[in-house]
Amino acid sequence: MTHAFPQTPDFIVHNEPVRIECDIYDLIVKGKIPEEINGVWYRSIPDPQYPSKEGNDVFISGDGMVGAFYFENGHVDYKCRYVMTERLKNDRAARRSLYGVYRNPFTDDASVQGKGRGVANTTPVYHGGKLLALKEDSLAWELDPITLETIGEFDYEGKLKSKTMSAHTRLDPETGELFVFGYEASGLASTDVSYWIVDKEGQLKNEQWFKVPYCAMMHDFVVTKEHVLFPVFPTVCELERLKAGGSHWGWDSSKNSFVGIMPRYGDVSEMRWFEGPPAFSYHMMNAYTDHNMVHMDLCVADVNVFPFVQEAAGIKINPAQTNGRLARWSFDMAGNSDTWTETILGPDGEIPRIAEKDFMKDYEIAYYANFMIQNGRPIISGPVHAGFNTASRINIKTGEIKSFSAPDVTLQEPVHVTSKQSGHEGYIIIVGEIFEKDRSDVYIFEAKKIDAGPIATIKMPLRLRDAVHGNWVPAEQLKR
Ligand SMILES: [Fe+2]
Repeated sequence: MTHAFPQTPDFIVHNEPVRIECDIYDLIVKGKIPEEINGVWYRSIPDPQYPSKEGNDVFISGDGMVGAFYFENGHVDYKCRYVMTERLKNDRAARRSLYGVYRNPFTDDASVQGKGRGVANTTPVYHGGKLLALKEDSLAWELDPITLETIGEFDYEGKLKSKTMSAHTRLDPETGELFVFGYEASGLASTDVSYWIVDKEGQLKNEQWFKVPYCAMMHDFVVTKEHVLFPVFPTVCELERLKAGGSHWGWDSSKNSFVGIMPRYGDVSEMRWFEGPPAFSYHMMNAYTDHNMVHMDLCVADVNVFPFVQEAAGIKINPAQTNGRLARWSFDMAGNSDTWTETILGPDGEIPRIAEKDFMKDYEIAYYANFMIQNGRPIISGPVHAGFNTASRINIKTGEIKSFSAPDVTLQEPVHVTSKQSGHEGYIIIVGEIFEKDRSDVYIFEAKKIDAGPIATIKMPLRLRDAVHGNWVPAEQLKR
């Protein structure tokens, strides 16, 4: 390799690229992993093969790795492979990056103009017998769920018209349907959004398109048993800024937030738009419909917390001053109001998870990661340049919080594993990056007693770079 990565917050400390594809058989475990934890935990990790052609870039631009922990009868194996995208193949053939900055094709080398630039680095989703690696600016890439070998770009056998597929999908565990959308669906900076449903067999049904008020970063959405909600927050894409070589995204406080709501099996012509003040949410925790009311629970702040999004707008706001909170936005579908009401559910946090049995329903228990200054100093990790130091279980009905933290350990996104035991809340698994040790631990908790500390710890012989998202697939769901 001819170039080193830039010494900027996106590439130093825990953000230093790892770039290791590996197989580790029977990892060392301290404690005992419950034998009912059988299945695979897939995780998507941005890990750039090469520095950007432009030198600096952002954390979330890295080539997608999929890491998989295979749990079987108390034993764990680990495998990690790059998604062999068109972009990674082009870069490897050139032995340098031919691509410029995050989601700006105007900064790419002439030799790759018009070629795929998706990195498949955000979420692994297993559905309909297929493992897909998702990134919201492009189509999905399909991988073999056992070997992690890349099969190819995925468009439902040519049936999907959208050029993009969001990294966040919503599963209805009772019908087996996967609800999906794509924004910038017709191309760069467009206001077209696509919405489709995939049946439990993996067949695409009813792709529909609609327009949003402006081209926004639509990272996540929510679905209830009756409705689908499309949040639009003022992190905007401007074609002129792109052509000038600038950031795909910039914060724009002159624009309001919008939430479009329609029946989930309905027609996009039934979309009803609600409007409120500027805000930003990367992730929604859950949503449900209760008679005339639709409730959406979200990790929300008054501004987009990603530094590069703020820099594009010429602002820099201390994360502690962004009014981050866990909130419920409630929409009265029978009333005449064109806005929502907000109820605070809990303290600031992100990357929320709930048990699969609670998807799309009224629920009580959730898990999320927080940064709490009393639990330790900020350590550079992930896109915000300060990793989470706390993992919490929150009862959203009572506000009760139980938390886990360990000195100088950065905690990644939790995943929930359902227990087969009656009345058992299941398990939470989290990767912890250990400061200055250049390796990671993986903690397994009884979900109900996260504050009691891990019941087992998997000792990783290498550092696991901050993953974006992961998903648990029970062994019985995997088609071998
Ligand atoms: Fe996300």
